[in-house]
Amino acid sequence: MKHLSLCRSLRSSCRPAALLAAQFLLTAGCLVWAAPPAPSSPPIVLTGADRRPSTSLNGDWASIVDPYFNGLFSFHHEIKANGFFLNRKAQPGDTFPTEYDFGKAPKLKVPADWNSQRESLFYYEGPIWYQRDFTYQPKPQTRIFLHVGAANYRSWFWVNGQAVCEHEGGFTSFNCDVTAVLHPGANFVVAAVDNTRHEDGVPTLETDWWNYGGLTRSVSLIQVPQAFIDQYDLHLSRTAPSSIEGWVHLQGALPGAKVQVEIPELGVNTSATIAENGRAIIHFPVSGLQRWSPETPKLYKVQIHAGPDAIEDVIGFRTIETRGTEILLNGKPIFLRGVAIHAEAPYRLGRANTDKDAETLLGWAKEMGCNFVRLAHYPHDETMLRAADRMGLLVWSENPVYWAVQFDNPKVLAKAAQQLDEEIGTSRNHASIILWSMANETPENGARTQFIATLAARVRELDPSRLITAALLVRSEGHTKIIDDPLGKALDVIGFNEYIGWYEQTPQGADTTNWRVDYQKPLIVSEFGGGAKAGLHGKPTDRWTEEYQADIYRHQLGMLNRIPQLRGMSPWVLMDFRSPNRPLVGIQDGFNRKGLISDQGQKKQAFFLLQKAYNENAVGKAD
Ligand code: GCU
Repeated sequence: MKHLSLCRSLRSSCRPAALLAAQFLLTAGCLVWAAPPAPSSPPIVLTGADRRPSTSLNGDWASIVDPYFNGLFSFHHEIKANGFFLNRKAQPGDTFPTEYDFGKAPKLKVPADWNSQRESLFYYEGPIWYQRDFTYQPKPQTRIFLHVGAANYRSWFWVNGQAVCEHEGGFTSFNCDVTAVLHPGANFVVAAVDNTRHEDGVPTLETDWWNYGGLTRSVSLIQVPQAFIDQYDLHLSRTAPSSIEGWVHLQGALPGAKVQVEIPELGVNTSATIAENGRAIIHFPVSGLQRWSPETPKLYKVQIHAGPDAIEDVIGFRTIETRGTEILLNGKPIFLRGVAIHAEAPYRLGRANTDKDAETLLGWAKEMGCNFVRLAHYPHDETMLRAADRMGLLVWSENPVYWAVQFDNPKVLAKAAQQLDEEIGTSRNHASIILWSMANETPENGARTQFIATLAARVRELDPSRLITAALLVRSEGHTKIIDDPLGKALDVIGFNEYIGWYEQTPQGADTTNWRVDYQKPLIVSEFGGGAKAGLHGKPTDRWTEEYQADIYRHQLGMLNRIPQLRGMSPWVLMDFRSPNRPLVGIQDGFNRKGLISDQGQKKQAFFLLQKAYNENAVGKAD
């Protein structure tokens, strides 16, 4: 079958036709070859999916580790066509052995990465099959979506043996339409998740974080009416700050249909009409609104009704913009006292995905005097963003264009754009998010600059209410650090990473370092710092000691305060996190130790030094 040979490179790009050709109706333990079902459709983005009533599919799933992806490919690397597919029980007439059984398979928890659940999976990179049964009663006149909070890195989904969707990208949520394949009563879902790294991936082969695989965020079923609200955007207008503007988009609704927006606490009850493109433009005056800010993280219940569909969200309203080299929050200049955070769960390790994880990590940031966090290097879980909204922390959210992705590969650009669409589509109403970051530490060349400038232009379309940034590398001439990367032109706010005192020079080197900045834009030092093993003490010149790390911070704060247009900082990093690049025995042991706090919550000297500087507002004092 021609398309099968086409799919030899299935691991890289072409699938649906092949998968459909290989469809199976599966019930736990029996396999039937079925006529090709309705083709699986690309997943959709839902705004506020976590605010919708849903049926959770979290919990224990059966799992089969399949390093050679034998469950999908034959020994000639073709899609299996005659029944060698997982989830099959032996048939009386079978002339071949059945060599798997989900019924007897060990369990994996969802949501969670698999690496921290089983010693044997700690370093595992490859495909794992998940399966679980569930009962469900689909209501008539509805559509049902399988909501996946995140699946790292590539994933395929079947419900009752029918392919429903597949996805690439490990840190954004997606929703697969399962309306056509669900039936009343007993159902089951099978997922193949493969965290193999790819050169043409986003991110690509090299990262300085653990490649946690699996269904790492919540999975559920969401039921909506035939015509439903898929995305909406409501924010305070920059140009008319006493009015809220935005839009509501519906799927399956006829032009002319009405949308109603209510904010009971503010006595707002307004409506708008759906246009040809499914969107209703929203714009209404508001009085008595308390603006959202770190000091006053006021959130309002917002109800959106459209025909039979309704959703209630909790949203804060604030404006964010730049004026020359200033960042203005609600029209006033602000200095972002921040820290960078990885989605590593404190104490238990593995992917962070619970309210408790978020409250612990953001609680430490607040305790340190932060009003800002850089969520690195990929979109974090909605639980983290909801907590930032509640706790009053401004957020830098980042697309995982990290280091050297294939900037000259249009397919890779499409993947990065898709992940941005999902990140922004899902999280666009978080007052906490003020910055969309396009990338981190990318090599300066024409293809790279074009690639990211294209993404930045897309974001300006998708969300003109926020600021665009990226973490740039800087270059040196003698004792002068120079920020002149051409990518800066495409950004509203320039982020830069530097490691004076760690990867270069001594901590004192900062005292004699000057900065030349070729942009009249706000600057954020998005990374600086150094490693320290919690509890290891010595002279400030002894690397890996808390004293050495604290000394880096002492000299850094002095230097950074001499950069006139510095408007924020997010030192690297709040908490030690796992990384495959950090093998130093007795010190790193598989952890990046640049945390101000250890993975077990031990605060290092530098934590208290930065806390003092933040609480005394001793940063950002160049003017
Ligand atoms: C880089 C990178 C981080 C990394 C850090 C480090 O700048 O952006 O992801 O962890 O440096 O080396 O510790």
